[in-house]
Amino acid sequence: MTSPKLAAVVLLVWLGEALAAAGLPAGGALLPQPSSNCPTRCGDVDIPFPFGIGPECAMPGFNLTCDLQHRAPFHGNVEVVRLSLQPAQARMLNVISSACYNTTSKKMDSNDWQLNFTNTPYRLSDAGNKFTAVGCSTLAYISDEFNKGKYMSGCVAMCRRGDLSALSNGNCSGIGCCQTAIPGALQYYRVWFDENYDTAAIYSVSPCSYAVLMESSNFTFLASYVTSPEFYNARQGRAPVLMDWAIGNQTCEVARRKHESYACVSENSECLNSPNGPGYICNCTEGYQGNPYLKDPNLGCKDIDECADLKNYPCSVDGSCKNSAGQYECLCPEGYKGDAKFGTCERPSTLDLGAKLAIGASVGVLICLVGFLGIEVIRHKRSIKRQAADRQCDEYFKKHGGEILSEITRDGQAGRSIPFTVYSRDEMETATNRFDKANIVGEGGQGTVYKAILRGTPVAVKRCKEVDESRSKDFVQELVILCRIDHPNIVKLLGCCLQYEAPVLVYEFVQNRTLQELLHPKNHLRTCRVTLGTRLKIAAQSAGALAHLHSGERPILHGDVKPANILLGDGWVAKVSDFGCSTIDEKTQAVPKGTPGYLDPLYLLEYQLTDKNDVYSFGVVLLELLTGMKPLSKERKSLTLTAMFQESMADGTLHQLLDRGIADEANMAVIRQVADLANQCLLVPATRRPPMKRVAEELRCLADEVQERAQPPLVLQDLRLADVGRRSTSSLCTHSETTGCYSLEKNAALSIEYAR
Ligand SMILES: *[C@@H]1O[C@H](CO)[C@@H](O)[C@H](O)[C@H]1NC(C)=O
Ligand SMILES: *[C@@H]1O[C@H](CO)[C@@H](O)[C@H](O)[C@H]1NC(C)=O
Ligand SMILES: *[C@@H]1O[C@H](CO)[C@@H](O)[C@H](O)[C@H]1NC(C)=O
Ligand SMILES: *[C@@H]1O[C@H](CO)[C@@H](O)[C@H](O)[C@H]1NC(C)=O
Ligand SMILES: *[C@@H]1O[C@H](CO)[C@@H](O)[C@H](O)[C@H]1NC(C)=O
Ligand SMILES: *[C@@H]1O[C@H](CO)[C@@H](O)[C@H](O)[C@H]1NC(C)=O
Ligand SMILES: *[C@@H]1O[C@H](CO)[C@@H](O)[C@H](O)[C@H]1NC(C)=O
Ligand SMILES: *[C@@H]1O[C@H](CO)[C@@H](O)[C@H](O)[C@H]1NC(C)=O
Repeated sequence: MTSPKLAAVVLLVWLGEALAAAGLPAGGALLPQPSSNCPTRCGDVDIPFPFGIGPECAMPGFNLTCDLQHRAPFHGNVEVVRLSLQPAQARMLNVISSACYNTTSKKMDSNDWQLNFTNTPYRLSDAGNKFTAVGCSTLAYISDEFNKGKYMSGCVAMCRRGDLSALSNGNCSGIGCCQTAIPGALQYYRVWFDENYDTAAIYSVSPCSYAVLMESSNFTFLASYVTSPEFYNARQGRAPVLMDWAIGNQTCEVARRKHESYACVSENSECLNSPNGPGYICNCTEGYQGNPYLKDPNLGCKDIDECADLKNYPCSVDGSCKNSAGQYECLCPEGYKGDAKFGTCERPSTLDLGAKLAIGASVGVLICLVGFLGIEVIRHKRSIKRQAADRQCDEYFKKHGGEILSEITRDGQAGRSIPFTVYSRDEMETATNRFDKANIVGEGGQGTVYKAILRGTPVAVKRCKEVDESRSKDFVQELVILCRIDHPNIVKLLGCCLQYEAPVLVYEFVQNRTLQELLHPKNHLRTCRVTLGTRLKIAAQSAGALAHLHSGERPILHGDVKPANILLGDGWVAKVSDFGCSTIDEKTQAVPKGTPGYLDPLYLLEYQLTDKNDVYSFGVVLLELLTGMKPLSKERKSLTLTAMFQESMADGTLHQLLDRGIADEANMAVIRQVADLANQCLLVPATRRPPMKRVAEELRCLADEVQERAQPPLVLQDLRLADVGRRSTSSLCTHSETTGCYSLEKNAALSIEYAR
């Protein structure tokens, strides 16, 4: 029975506690706001919050008592005559201290005085008050709290030798009057007179001296003040003193964080640090007025309706004032510009905005039109030019058999894919930067080679000099054959562009030097010695490449075999290049091409290119490899390398011709065989020359032989070259059947066969 009751009680208690807790932050801890019953006036004095009559109506420390007898508010025993929030000041009445000579006691009767504002919001205003002493022989002291304080000062007022004629009304000049400033943040005031100064001697003229800390603006010196009690009596013994006041003893930053005790509760209020001592004061933000310490929106900071107070907030144009939160506007009459607040309304220059806009718009449209027309004209002209160029390109394309090529590649794509690209003229122009001379990497009998970047990869672009129109069909078919060739020692043909007067061919780019550069370095300093092994390897690879070209169903003739057309890739791998422009089969006539010195003299006679012409040219390359000499030389005049070689072979003085870099005894056997091979390549008639295939095989065999021999095995002296050759060949080419090497004997037999 009892347990449900108990539970209800517990619940209620808990609820009560919860409600209390919830209510706390909302109201409980906040500074109390005055109730509507709190008086706002006492006597003639307005009492704005935080001030109030009685502690329940005031912020702590700001309570005053309203003395019904005096009909004035009091702070303790000090009468308050005015309170203001902005500036945060209170005017109080301070007692005027006096010291008068008592003829009976023959002493100065003085009433000392003190004010104790310690631990109150008030502090004596250092800006508004001055300690003022009046008299003809007096020294008045001012200090803060006795025993504790740090401040003490004084003021001396004299009338020398009792001469009162020097006194003048007005400012306190120092004669009969003295004023001194006080330090800030003073909360305690005490005044007394120095007993050593008395008025005994001048008793009849000036019996009394006065001293008070008072509002300086209220004091004007009168000569009568020293001769009569006027100063004291006119003020009924009290003078106004200005007090600054502030909330608490902390700065705004600290106070704002203590939400529960923060006094600037009105919206649109701000906090200001007190200008005199610790604590802060509140102020309405600009454009608002009211009591920043009150939460009530009707009593707190309210927007100033400036338009209702045009005396203080003037507008130069009547009826144009527009109030808004925190500010106001003064509008200029229609058609005028400026700010009526500052009387700067002006008629805008002759044109009004509309007219300006209209003119601006028309000018804009006109500019656009002209620009547009200009661009169109240029475009039209360009397109005419372009069309002409395109027509020309199309013609070239047809002329070089582009249509046939397209057909072939299309057909090919259906079955076997042909890795061949037909590039557009635009692509070529971009890739070579319009065939910029700076990009030239080689020039030959058949055309000029440029380095280019095509679709992101480096390529070599060759611009053929010319091509026989009559055989354009053959030309493209050969191109297709060429691009199918995938040989490690042949530069790969990637594609072509037929939209030029002569075809443009695109090859893989081989980074390194040519054999030409290797044998005849431009700076005449041989940077690296090329061994016989390397030379033979290059020769063998080049020969292999040429043999491959010749071996097809439809033989391809190079037509311009020379060291400059043998590129050297990584690891000295030879790559034969510069074919394609003049690939001509045996049956066809062609204009003479090739390079003097390498060109077969028979070709010049018969005007017919055969595979034997390539063999001849390769023979010259072999000679160059052995001797390091160029086939033609200005110094030698008409004496060609071929002629010199054939002569020395007959004389048995070959060693005199050989490159010093390779001509050591150990190599002589091999060199002799290479020389024999070269000699065969140069034979006339051409039918006596070995086919490229055999040249390649023989060179490979010789290259292998040199490579296998790590060190020169023996030093042979006084051996005739023929003997050496015979011996080494017979010992090496025993496995000739399997490797395809030819012994010298077989070689000889073959050459006899060819000779037939
Ligand atoms: C303010 O009120 C307290 C009591 O609440 C009183 O002790 C104090 O004297 C009052 N101060 C003044 C200046 O009236
Ligand atoms: C002068 O002093 C005597 C005694 O000390 C005193 O009785 C008298 O009232 C004083 N006179 C005045 C004018 O204060
Ligand atoms: C001044 O007032 C404070 C607190 O109100 C008090 O502690 C102090 O003793 C007073 N000083 C004098 C000299 O009366
Ligand atoms: C008093 O001093 C103020 C400046 O401090 C000056 O402007 C004023 O004229 C002076 N008055 C007389 C009567 O000398
Ligand atoms: C200044 O003093 C005169 C008396 O000389 C008085 O009538 C007047 O009210 C005082 N002014 C202020 C602002 O207290
Ligand atoms: C600031 O005022 C509080 C009470 O209002 C008092 O306890 C504290 O000692 C004062 N601090 C200083 C530095 O005056
Ligand atoms: C307080 O606000 C009033 C009115 O906005 C302004 O005139 C006054 O300068 C402000 N006081 C301070 C100290 O900023
Ligand atoms: C080829 O070029 C590579 C780097 O580009 C270089 O390391 C190499 O030695 C070169 N070979 C020849 C034969 O120049």
